[in-house]
Amino acid sequence: MTAGYDATDKVALITGGAGGIGAAVARALAGSGARLVLADVDAERGAALAAELDAAFVPCDVREPGDSAAAVATALDRFGGLDLAFLNAGIASGHGLGDDFDPVAYRRAMGVNLDGVVYGIHAALPALRARGGGDIIATASMAGLTPAPFDPVYGANKTAVVGLVRSLGPAYANENIRVNALCPSFADTDILIPLKSHLEATNFPILDVSDVVDAFFGILNTEGTGEAWFVVPGREPGPFKFRGVPGPR
Ligand SMILES: NC(=O)c1ccc[n+]([C@@H]2O[C@H](COP(=O)([O-])OP(=O)(O)OC[C@H]3O[C@@H](n4cnc5c(N)ncnc54)[C@H](O)[C@@H]3O)[C@@H](O)[C@H]2O)c1
Repeated sequence: MTAGYDATDKVALITGGAGGIGAAVARALAGSGARLVLADVDAERGAALAAELDAAFVPCDVREPGDSAAAVATALDRFGGLDLAFLNAGIASGHGLGDDFDPVAYRRAMGVNLDGVVYGIHAALPALRARGGGDIIATASMAGLTPAPFDPVYGANKTAVVGLVRSLGPAYANENIRVNALCPSFADTDILIPLKSHLEATNFPILDVSDVVDAFFGILNTEGTGEAWFVVPGREPGPFKFRGVPGPR
């Protein structure tokens, strides 16, 4: 599953590491020799997985900048550094902008899915620099590459994560810090529960979480930066090729 990636002596932080994609990546990284800090609001599942993988668990709400800072500090204190930040915590918003608009749910979704990535990157950068470089991978979504009428707020914050990564990749390339986004289509985790029966009824193919884990290691095993990797059923994952925009004439 790790396609030859050797994580021996690498230290990784995983937000949203208690379940779903984060937990699956945690298991694969631990199996490949990495030391892990799992950061999640779900302390029960997070602490249990950390015990299983001999990892550290940090209670963390990624909407709070101090929580990301504390998670990075734990990587430094417990394992002596940080090589990889997988900024993966995310939620659906479940609301539109019409009569169903809920400003609290809107702020929560933007806070977790966008602010959480921004705060995670800000916290991780000094630690990655101290190692002479490293990797940042943010979990965006195919909803960041295509319209998402089922959850437009989710589409907005995931598109923002793609834009952030595309801008930060070149910004930190000369420091040997790569910044990429993982963009899965619908994958079989808890976040999908509200949509799953509709997807099954319409025969929409759903990714196995292992497909997303493979794409995660695909990113680690290549050299690109500022890229957004699509992960869709039945296709080899890879960096989405954006069309060039018209320049001035
Ligand atoms: N499963 C899919 O269909 C799919 C598709 C595209 C993108 N994604 C993205 O993948 C990422 C992981 O989601 P998943 O599919 O594993 O779902 P999941 O619900 O199984 O896992 C999400 C994890 O994030 C944690 N979390 C939620 N809010 C948090 C917060 N404020 N601070 C810290 N942790 C928090 C949850 O406790 C949970 O462990 C998310 O960013 C999601 O948007 C999922």
